[in-house]
Amino acid sequence: MNVELFKQPLTTILSDITLEFVNRSQCLTHPHATLLSGAKFEGKSEQICLLHEHKLLVCGLDNESNEEYRIAMTLAIKTLSSTNYASLKLSAPKEPFFQATIEGVILGGYSFQDYKSKPNITAFKNVYFAYSSDYDFDHFQSILTKTLIISNATNFTRNLVNQTPYDMTPITMSIVAQELANTNNLECTILDINGLKDEKMEAMLAVGRASVNPPRLIHLSYKPSNPTKVITLVGKGLTYDSGGLSLKAATSMVTMKMDKAGGCAVMGMIKAISELGLNIEVHAFIGAVENMIGGDAYKPDDVLTAKNGKTIEVRNTDAEGRLVLADVLGYAQEKVNADYIFDFATLTGACMVALGSYTTGVMGHNENLKNSFLSTSDNSGEYCAILPFNRHLKKLIKSDLADVCNVSSKPYGGAITAALFLDHFIDDNMKEKWVHFDIAGPAYTESAYDVHTYGGTGAGVRMMLEWMIQSSK
Ligand code: BES
Ligand code: ZN
Ligand code: ZN
Repeated sequence: MNVELFKQPLTTILSDITLEFVNRSQCLTHPHATLLSGAKFEGKSEQICLLHEHKLLVCGLDNESNEEYRIAMTLAIKTLSSTNYASLKLSAPKEPFFQATIEGVILGGYSFQDYKSKPNITAFKNVYFAYSSDYDFDHFQSILTKTLIISNATNFTRNLVNQTPYDMTPITMSIVAQELANTNNLECTILDINGLKDEKMEAMLAVGRASVNPPRLIHLSYKPSNPTKVITLVGKGLTYDSGGLSLKAATSMVTMKMDKAGGCAVMGMIKAISELGLNIEVHAFIGAVENMIGGDAYKPDDVLTAKNGKTIEVRNTDAEGRLVLADVLGYAQEKVNADYIFDFATLTGACMVALGSYTTGVMGHNENLKNSFLSTSDNSGEYCAILPFNRHLKKLIKSDLADVCNVSSKPYGGAITAALFLDHFIDDNMKEKWVHFDIAGPAYTESAYDVHTYGGTGAGVRMMLEWMIQSSK
């Protein structure tokens, strides 16, 4: 999609059709009020009316909020994609709704067609914004540039998540990372099985052992010359999670190609960070592994020694993400002395039970740091909520055999006990600098909502970018 901002009045821009946002009262006084009411259009949220004879697309808005603009614009783009119109013009809404509207265009207009023998080709490809002279044009142009980078990085993440487990293996992920490093001037280091053995990453190796697709640890870094801080991002990159010997039920296994969404998200983040040229040094570590069954599969009853020396009693091979993260977090902390360490993982079904499918679970020890993500959530368009630790939940992952057990002894609070497991692999000096994001709910959707179509959503990317931009001011 081509999106442009013009420093000229709306009427002087040439396009096939014009978009107007209209609320209930504007609907009553609209020049085409009769036509609109004939079409049962009342200016409500998620209502749209296409007046072909007037080359006008009217979109309803309940109120002025980021969410309303994002959803209205998504509906507009979807509607136009099934017409033969090629271009649309509209007045740029004021801040912050301009950003939300652009997100509606790029994120709402996304569609994944790679596996269709006859992809849908739409004629619609241009959106022109007319800027009102009341605002600062250069500022609006910079919002457009920033939003395009972040939205396109979100779509990059979605594309990776949507690839089948056959197409997107740990090796393919490492090739994608290498290509991203080449185009975006990043450093890239990849560890294969021998490298993982040298680094004593027994937990990650155990999870990947039964797969014909060997694991890879990917490390991408973006290093501006005088960074104000250093941030480490860690992503769970399970290219497929069958559950291993603790095999998932048939219906729960479907969609488990999305278990790499955390890894794909941190790749999208570093892509956007480098394109925005933020003055922050960023390292992205991805544990790319496939959890499968086989004669040499790791087993419930195994005891694994993680990179930091702690021993783990395995009682369920489907709690594999935390084993991979245990080693990747250990490796990341050894390699980089960061100001913050954030991990993103589709870690637990329990997080979806707690918060629903639309919200990221935020966990960690530092209250201010966790809260700082809540305040960026409205701007970014992602929902997140804090799930609190407590001493009683911490005891549920004690092991009689090893240092810690990979599952809780009780069935409740599974998102938190998973995070408390990760806490065993966070060094003492990093405790206050760490936040864990469980994106199991929002990373993937099988029914469209907000700016999301079927499949990967790119959860985490917009939220993290918004936070980085706020904190680099
Ligand atoms: N990848 C899953 C978590 C998941 C479930 C993500 C549904 C997205 C949607 C994870 O590896 C897993 O299987 N977790 C288990 C943990 C349990 C064995 C303690 C779960 O949530 O059931
Ligand atoms: Zn699992
Ligand atoms: Zn998993």
